[in-house]
Amino acid sequence: MADHSELIEQARLAQGRARAPHSGYPVGAAVLTESGNIYPGCNIESGAFPTTICAERVAIFASIAAGEKNIQALAIVTRDGGMPCGACRQVIYEQCGEIPIYVAGTDDPNPKAFTTSQLLPFPFDFQQL
Ligand code: THU
Repeated sequence: MADHSELIEQARLAQGRARAPHSGYPVGAAVLTESGNIYPGCNIESGAFPTTICAERVAIFASIAAGEKNIQALAIVTRDGGMPCGACRQVIYEQCGEIPIYVAGTDDPNPKAFTTSQLLPFPFDFQQL
């Protein structure tokens, strides 16, 4: 996908489906897979706070559960262009490898682009222990 606007648009739509009654901070994400499919995710919060799940992990896990093998790009949308949390960076590293990660505000005309290694430069890697 030369133009990532569709991936970001799907993340923006997913942000609108977030369930964030505790934080009031809806997050949307979307992954593009090798087969060309896009899987959205949104944060889903729980009254038992640790069981909340981030938007990025919902999108990544949904694509894996659907049988996708290779994630090629990830987009994240928040109201302020917030960066992914450390837990999600670890999951991105393990499940996506080195991919482009687009971070955008909800109506942001200039999304920022990062790579996995920029966001997690010294990863924990169980395979290398
Ligand atoms: N959140 C995400 O969905 N992704 C992140 O990378 C950071 C945080 C969610 C979790 C929680 O529902 C809300 O944002 C506030 O922390």
